[in-house]
Amino acid sequence: MIRIVRVRDYEDMSRQVANIISAQIILKPNCVLGLATGSTPIGAYQQLVEWYKKGDVDFSQVSSYNLDEYRGLNGDDPQSYRYFMNENLFNHVNINIENTHVPDGSNPDADATCAEYDAMVAAAGYQDLQLLGIGNNGHIGFNEPDDHFSYGTHCVDLTESTIEANSRLFDKIEDVPRQAYTMGTHTIMSARAIVVAANGEKKAQAVHDMVYGPITPSCPASILQLHSNVILVADEAALSLC
Ligand code: GLP
Repeated sequence: MIRIVRVRDYEDMSRQVANIISAQIILKPNCVLGLATGSTPIGAYQQLVEWYKKGDVDFSQVSSYNLDEYRGLNGDDPQSYRYFMNENLFNHVNINIENTHVPDGSNPDADATCAEYDAMVAAAGYQDLQLLGIGNNGHIGFNEPDDHFSYGTHCVDLTESTIEANSRLFDKIEDVPRQAYTMGTHTIMSARAIVVAANGEKKAQAVHDMVYGPITPSCPASILQLHSNVILVADEAALSLC
């Protein structure tokens, strides 16, 4: 079941998502967080940094596992998701960087990279809380629409729609990597609780299909209907078709 929290705008969404993450950390200081990149969670991360600076949230025992990384990018490449996480959250709070994990985009050996990441995630047990954004085409992490749901970490060919959507963050579309390593759907679904954030009209169809559409790998997020503890925090525009 997906519980919906309707919010006014991006700022509200960010504060609500940050509330849920900080509540998780307060309830279980050594929790395992599944974290996401993209434009959607930036505001929530900023809010968490603010609360950390005020002394309201303590990351010292937290560990984190990110959903995905572009294949071919090093962690010090400003377009990499490792860099994004360092810049937007990790460098500004007291998390132990050794306890933060992102698939190794610099390793071209896909099988080795994915197996290594799965082993790390398995060693952590499960994510207490998984944060997700949603792609315009219903992808979660980089689990693109497909004819089956994925299991563990794997290498994906990004769809044209995702390359196009993500090109806004690159100088030119040719610079967008064509492949990525992503945590699998089964691993995402293993989290105890999941919070999905969505804002803006561009997400309206995907949000509708996630919540009310058939459960199908052609909308990977639709599998979240089978999870017992999912909260969708979304603004009016993202909920306009619901
Ligand atoms: C990216 C990421 C996803 C993210 C989604 C939406 O491709 N791999 O984890 O949720 O697309 O991105 P945004 O939040 O920028 O709309």
